[in-house]
Order: sequence, then C-alpha cells, then structure tokens
Amino acid sequence: MSNNRSSFSGRIGFVLAAAGSAVGLGNLWRFPYLAASHGGGIFILCYIILALTFGFALMTTEIAIGRKTGLSCIGAYQALSRKFTFLGYVAWLVPIIILPYYSVIGGWVCKYISVYLTGQAQAAAADGGAFFGTFISSPGEPLGWFCLFLALTSVAVLLGVEKGVEKVSKWMMPILIVLIIGICAYALTMDGALEGLKYYLVPDFSKFSLSTITAAMGQLFYSMSLAMGIMVTYGSYTRKDISLVKSVNQIELFDTGVAMLAGLVIIPTVFAFQGEAGLSAAGPGLMFQSLPMIFAEMPGGQFVGLAFFVLVLLAALTSSISLMETIVSMFMDKLKLGRRAAGVLVLAVSLVMGIPSSLGNGVWSHITLLGRDFLSFFDFVSNNIIMPVVALLTCILIGWVIGTKTVTDEVTRNGEAFGRKRLYEIMIKYFAPVFLIVILLEGIGVLKV
Ligand code: PHE
Repeated sequence: MSNNRSSFSGRIGFVLAAAGSAVGLGNLWRFPYLAASHGGGIFILCYIILALTFGFALMTTEIAIGRKTGLSCIGAYQALSRKFTFLGYVAWLVPIIILPYYSVIGGWVCKYISVYLTGQAQAAAADGGAFFGTFISSPGEPLGWFCLFLALTSVAVLLGVEKGVEKVSKWMMPILIVLIIGICAYALTMDGALEGLKYYLVPDFSKFSLSTITAAMGQLFYSMSLAMGIMVTYGSYTRKDISLVKSVNQIELFDTGVAMLAGLVIIPTVFAFQGEAGLSAAGPGLMFQSLPMIFAEMPGGQFVGLAFFVLVLLAALTSSISLMETIVSMFMDKLKLGRRAAGVLVLAVSLVMGIPSSLGNGVWSHITLLGRDFLSFFDFVSNNIIMPVVALLTCILIGWVIGTKTVTDEVTRNGEAFGRKRLYEIMIKYFAPVFLIVILLEGIGVLKV
C-alpha cells in the first residue's frame, strides 16, 4: 500500500494541498457564526491560544506519524501499536459523518451562486434573512442543491482529480483572500460596523464559559481537518526532507487567517444592519443571511456576491473532495473495491445520510436528536464527541504508550531545531488529555459550568 504513494512536489505544494483541505466551509461558514454566538473576542482569544498549543501539537503529531509510517490512518495507527488499530477506524468514521452534511451546506452555497447569477441580489437581502429561512425550509429545493454539490464532489473523486486540488488551491486561495479583504474594507465603512469590530476583537471576559472553550476546540478540529486521519494521510505523502515545523506553522496561519477574515466581514456587517440584536439569532445561516445585505448595498454587489460565492464553492469543493477521497481510498483498501465501486458506495451512503440533514431545517424540523436538528446533531457528534475521543486516544498512544520521541525524532530527522519541543511534550502527555476529558464530559452533559 505504501510503495506507490505519490508525493507532493515540495513544501509549498504540501502546504497548499493541506491548506486546500483545511480551508473550507469551516472557516467561512462555521467559524463566524460560532464566534458570533460565543461572545466574539473571547472566543477568538480561546481559539488562538488553542491553535498555538493544542492545534500545533496535534497537527505535528498527525503529519509526523503519517510521514514516519508512510501509511494512511488505519495502517498508520496499526503500525505504531497493534492495540490502537481500532483508533484508525474511529478516526475514519468522522469524514463519513461530516461529508453528507458538509454537502448540504455546499448545496446552500450553490443556491446562492444561482441567486447572484439570476440577478436576485436585492431579494436575497430582504427582511434580514427571511429569504434564507424560506429557502431552507422548503421541502425540495435544498435537497436538489445538496444532490448537485455531492454530485460535483463525486465526479471529481471518480475522475481522480485529487491532484488537481493542489493546483486549484494555488490560485483560489490568494483570490479568495484578496476578495475577502476588499469586502471587509467596505463593510467596516458602514455605520455601526466598528461596534461589531470591537465585539469581534476585544475579549469580554464576562462572556466566558466552558462552552466557549468547547466550541473553540470543536472548531479547531473541524477547521484544521484534525482528529479524523486526514492529516495523517497528507503526512504520508510528504517528502522526508521537508520541514514539518515550518509546514505546520504555515497551514495553521493560513487556516486561522482565513477564518479570522471571514468573521471580520460577517460580524461587523451584522452589527451595521441589525445591531447586536442580530447576533442573538446567529446560527448556521449567518453567512447566508448577513453577506447578502452588504452585497445589496455595495456598488457592483451583484458581481462581488457572485465572485464570493463561487470562491466559497471552490473552497468547499477542495475540502469535500479530500473528505470523500479519504473515505473512498479506505473502502478501496479494506473492501478490495475498485475506485468506481468504492466511489458509488460512498455516494450512496452520503446521499442517504444527507437527506435528513437537508430536510431537518424544513419539513423534518419537528424531529430532533439530543434536542438538535439532524444537521446540528451530526455536527455535534463528530466535533464534540468523536473527534475529542480520537484526539484523546492519540495523545495517550503518543504520550504514554510509544513515547513522544517517536514524533519528535521524526520532526528533527533533518537536523532541524524543534523550538517548541518541550511545549509539545507537555501538551501531549498532560494538558491535552486532561483538557479533552473535560471537553468530553461537557459534551455529553455530565459537566456543566
Ligand atoms: N477543514 C475543512 C473546513 O474547514 C473541513 C474538512 C474536514 C475538510 C475534514 C476535509 C476534511 O471546511
């Protein structure tokens, strides 16, 4: 399995491909609404601290074990310790849960592209988000867009264009960043926007609670594609002479930077149009409700809106392709299926699992699981339960079973200095496990603060 691994062209190729997987709806859609609903500045502060400590430790671990073993998730955990083979399977469950509902949101993005293509910029901004509400609660429409997004992802995976992801990311990422900075500059000139900026950047400690950390942590896993075996696979494609320290820093910087920028556009916009009251309704629809308001105001907003949603679609596709690719290649390995058969199987499973998430905001909104609609339920189970379990077991495996030396040796194999080695060891052995247990207990409702 490991003999034929393709490798990235170099460090930049690797960083771009990993960033292409990492930067997606998590940054543009999920981060801003979590920041809005968890106290703004205080959420950002928690997120950045977690990214620099926990995120750095876990990403370094995953990429290092991938590169060391040359295997993707199930094989890699098995190679490190037979007893931990199951961990690879648990990690692999995560993409299976995420892909279907990711495609539902991807479908919403497709819908908004059609809105801007057909000149409905004003309609999309009407009534502070009522347009979005009507759309997601209609029975058939979101379902159709969900199928379209899933079909686009499947075609890309069946054609084996995952190599193309590196190429698409190369030009998409800079354009996306420039466009967001432009929209952001415009948003900040609006009356009331500076209040939003303050809410977003200045931490208000009275808004802090354990759920701020839990939300930031779940977001970190999701956004950086951690605790689901994906970075292990990317690591296995990485050349041995590439600096892991620099790569990890750059991927984290990219990913956090894009998320921060997305929030910087969305939250001040909400303040400008609806004041702080607009935040009370902040939920998964936030990006789709707030940005159309600014596109309806700004000169050429019709085109800016179109360009924006097209780029969001590309960012979402590079991520969904990497999600589906991970599941498909595992089915190919384990079930000895060809690419086409494995692809069709994953497509069928995702279709069946995605339907409740798509209908859960509309005709099936009366059905709830743990008090959540289907989409929020799948999001919660993957981010707040399974990923912390995978991360916890990974820390135990590395910190206590095989030793952190396995990872630190891989990081320093080219004689490179590992400046945060001590921090790394302390994180993996002590902080992260304790922290993850607290998060899990909070997640399942045992602990309430
Ligand atoms: N990290 C991606 C995002 O932020 C989501 C994703 C998760 C992509 C797992 C691939 C694998 O949107």
